[in-house]
Order: sequence, then C-alpha cells, then structure tokens
Amino acid sequence: MGGLSSLPSANEAATSAAHGLVVRNVTVRFQALAAISDVSLHVSDREIFGLIGPNGAGKTTLVNCLTGFQTPTGGAIYLHGLDTVGWRADRFRLAGIARTFQAGRLFNNLSVLENVEVTGLGLGLARNAARAASYELLEWIGIADMASVAAGALAYTDQRRLSIVRALTVAPKFILLDEPAAGMSDAEADELVHHIAEIPDRFGCGVLLIEHNMHVVMSICHRVQVLDGGKTLAVGTPDEIKRHEGVLAAYLGMEA
Ligand SMILES: Nc1ncnc2c1ncn2[C@@H]1O[C@H](COP(=O)(O)OP(=O)(O)O)[C@@H](O)[C@H]1O
Ligand SMILES: [Mg+2]
Repeated sequence: MGGLSSLPSANEAATSAAHGLVVRNVTVRFQALAAISDVSLHVSDREIFGLIGPNGAGKTTLVNCLTGFQTPTGGAIYLHGLDTVGWRADRFRLAGIARTFQAGRLFNNLSVLENVEVTGLGLGLARNAARAASYELLEWIGIADMASVAAGALAYTDQRRLSIVRALTVAPKFILLDEPAAGMSDAEADELVHHIAEIPDRFGCGVLLIEHNMHVVMSICHRVQVLDGGKTLAVGTPDEIKRHEGVLAAYLGMEA
C-alpha cells in the first residue's frame, strides 16, 4: 500500500497535543460503570488508525467523545493543539471531525445525490458547485448510477457507502468510521477497504476506523489500538498487534 513508509512508526508517533487528534487519559463513567478508563491515543494527520476490541470495549463511547456526543468524565481531547473541552457536536463538526453512525442517519426520502448535496449547500457551496462535487464523490465510491434513487430504497451496503461520502463532503480533517463494513460480504468489504485506503491521499484526511473484520483492519491500518473492558490492551503496527499475547488471549476463539 503506497504511502505507509512516510508515516511515523508506532514508536516514534508524535504524542504532542499540537499534532493530529489526541486523546489524553480519557475516562467515561455511566454511574458505576467505567465505559472507558484512562485511555490515551493519537491519530496523526492522514493516518489510518484502527480501533478494535470486543463488544462493550468502549469503542463507540470513545468516538462519541471525539464528536461531542459524550462528555468525558475525565481527561482531555485535543484537535491540532486546540483543547476541545466544552465543545458540542456542531463545534467538533465545524473544526473538521466527521463521523458515520452504526445505523445510517440518511434522509430516506431525498435522492442519493440530494443527500450529499444538502451537506454541500449547508456549507455554503453554490447549487451547481455542490451538485458537481456531490456527483464526483458518488462516482468515486461507486454509486453514481443510483444518484436519482431515494436513499431509503438503497441496499444496506450502498447506504453505508452513501454515509461515508456524506461525511467526506465537509472536507474533514479526520473521519471516524464506526464499523463501516458491518453486514457486508467479504467481496463488498474488500471493495470498501480499497476506498477507505484512498481517503488520506485523496481527501487529505486522517481516518479512525472501528471494525470487527480483522482482515480489513490489518490490511489498511498504519497503527492499531486494542481496547478491552474500557482499557487499552495494546497499541502498535498491525504486525505487532497480531503477535501480541494479550490480544491473542482476548480474541481467542474469534476469527482472525
Ligand atoms: N449511554 C450509556 N449509558 C450507560 N451505559 C452505556 C452507555 N453507552 C455505552 N454504555 C456501556 O458502555 C460500555 C461500552 O459501550 P460501547 O462504547 O458501545 O462499546 P463498543 O462500541 O466497543 O461495543 C458498554 O458496557 C455499554 O453497555
Ligand atoms: Mg460500538
């Protein structure tokens, strides 16, 4: 995969809050339950960073913190050195953090093209410019032939592709993808992987990828962090993670 060698290795990745997206010692409590305990991570600009772990590990809660949908109980989150404390969801969005949801959140009655276009219009693009940019994005991800179909009539996997394109419309600095290949066949997942791998160079954007499909994670992520029970179990390159004994134990019996 092109471009991997130019990225910092796991060991030399910058930890300064001034660069990229930085999570520092974040804890989230729901009453007695600590969904996340003292988790730190760092996604570099244009990095594809994998976040994995069993169900209930705290992955979605962390994404919620990174998008203003959840306020951490403790710790801090920095975007290019800016302390995001007190930011609500719209502030995170304006500052360049986009996300997709495990369940679509599309405008089902609008066409596929309109679903992308409204985001562009919301950003102040002129109608023609928004339409052209939207169409180009649909062509890229391979659903331009369905531009005039109602989004609600799309197959589930195409709705997931549309969600990703909508998130990219805002020219984000980081895109957070929560299980984008869930429910896809191996062939569909492979095809999606190919597109996700293009995001950093094509959109100048870093990717935080939550995904259960280990083949997807290990083939495109520059670094991977493993959460288990709300705590960090390991962080490293895909090769380091595949050999990590604690990770192997946590995933024992799971398909690798
Ligand atoms: N809003 C909430 N209220 C109470 N508990 C929650 C809430 N959101 C998540 N949790 C709990 O926090 C833990 C982590 O959940 P989650 O972040 O969804 O994990 P993952 O995405 O890794 O499957 C789970 O035990 C879950 O039940
Ligand atoms: Mg989740």
